[in-house]
Amino acid sequence: MTSCTDTAAWAALQGHFEAHGRGLDLREAFARDAGRVAALGFEAPEVWADLSKNLIDTATLRYLLELARERGVEARRDAMFRGEPINTTEGRAVLHTALRAPEGAPALVGAPPGAGPFGTEVHDVLQAVLDYAENVRKDWTITDVVNIGIGGSDLGPQMVVKALDAYTQAGQRLHFVSNVDGHDLMPLLDRLQPNKTLFIVASKTFTTQETLTNAHAARDWFLSQGGQHIERHFVATTCNVEAAAAFGIHTTFGFWDWVGGRYSLWSAIGLPIAIAVGGERFRELLAGAHAMDRHFAETPAERNLPLLLGLLDVWYRNFHGFTSRSVAPYHQGLARLPAYLQQLELESNGKRVDEAGRALAVGTSPVVWGEPGTNGQHAYFQMLHQGTDVIPVEFIAVKTPSHAQAEQHRKLLANCLAQSQALMLGKTAAEAAAEAAPTAAPGVDPAVLAQHRSFPGNRPSTTLVLDALTPRALGALIAMYEHRVFTSGAVWGINSFDQWGVELGKALAGALLPRLKSGDTAGLDASTAALLQRLRS
Ligand code: F6P
Repeated sequence: MTSCTDTAAWAALQGHFEAHGRGLDLREAFARDAGRVAALGFEAPEVWADLSKNLIDTATLRYLLELARERGVEARRDAMFRGEPINTTEGRAVLHTALRAPEGAPALVGAPPGAGPFGTEVHDVLQAVLDYAENVRKDWTITDVVNIGIGGSDLGPQMVVKALDAYTQAGQRLHFVSNVDGHDLMPLLDRLQPNKTLFIVASKTFTTQETLTNAHAARDWFLSQGGQHIERHFVATTCNVEAAAAFGIHTTFGFWDWVGGRYSLWSAIGLPIAIAVGGERFRELLAGAHAMDRHFAETPAERNLPLLLGLLDVWYRNFHGFTSRSVAPYHQGLARLPAYLQQLELESNGKRVDEAGRALAVGTSPVVWGEPGTNGQHAYFQMLHQGTDVIPVEFIAVKTPSHAQAEQHRKLLANCLAQSQALMLGKTAAEAAAEAAPTAAPGVDPAVLAQHRSFPGNRPSTTLVLDALTPRALGALIAMYEHRVFTSGAVWGINSFDQWGVELGKALAGALLPRLKSGDTAGLDASTAALLQRLRS
């Protein structure tokens, strides 16, 4: 495959950017075109997306869609759904979509019935996970469930459990421990009683240092505190059933190497979600994701929301040169969504070579970051409005809350709408001057103040609207993000499904560990040697 920059579509986009893109003014675009929202508003299962406040017009989309066509994005998507080994560096299929295909539906799109690595296996394991979760939910001797895992074995379940708080039953608390730092696990253990606690050791590989260290510490604590029947209090979710057995865990729920860690909340890794919300809700989460899978697989590119969002990411990253995207969920339940997206997007697309191993000519994954609204407004929105960098913002608004505070919810939504409006409209120095003059403190030059109080505007944003944060809507939203990441990765021609970039640090940490004990600094670079000496206990 050639580089994306060698395509005719890329050259055409560059021309379009120079002629119309760079200078596009949102205020003028809205004034010119009464149909802008209709043309740039997109409906997908459970999600309506307003792309009209982005620095695009319908011509931009046409050029971007041509790029997607030339890069074979849809063909690659179909290959993923067919179970082809598109994770080329690991020789694996990428089939998290098969985890949410309803029973009886063809899990592999376009493949003969019964084809694929699973048959009924996926649904058998799902049922076993959900049955086990129901038993835990009914077991009132268990008051606390602790998920020990990191990365994809933590962020997805943790984010979803918080988001679906309104659906959780009272009486059982879910905890998530991930960091190898003992400050994560130990203060939690101080509050728990061993015979009332269930530990889930969640690790796809069952080799991850952080998770195994915490699992060992939890087991030591359990035994030292007089815990009984360890086999009832420790279960594992993993692809490595043998390693879990060697650890001494006999209740294990498995999954498969074609489920990437950051795409695994739909598998047995979702056990804490099923315990929190129950099997029926878990199935609704899967159904929402499946509806989005079908949208991605079947909707023509020009109305295909994840595909369009992925193309928008390419447009901003490579043509406008924006290096980051801020996510602002206006729902406290989505507080962990930015952290979840950081792994999904940055571990998937933070790559510098293409599939053939050639250095890329363009930048890839933008930095994704954010906090729930309105909190972010009182922290970093200053920079979004008046800083020197343009950072596209993604607002997520939920129409109906799960609480009864109608006025509070209206305030939340008013803030959400106001922020995207303010980013777009800005305020001219003349407008600011009219305001500044009467209010300027003594000794403050009103003309200078007006400069400080003006806003450039024309700053882009997307608003995603959900009717309610139901399991189904959340499933659809997450799947939308997964397929969006797939799309930009496909345009760039990278493997979005490996993560070799995490390996070097892991290996070096392994080599430094004994040196922290021995104090041996021989052969280390001077900085690391000095730091090690200072930190040695
Ligand atoms: O180090 C990165 C990573 O491999 C992630 O991709 C993964 O989600 C995480 O570690 C945890 O891995 P595991 O589930 O195998 O413990």
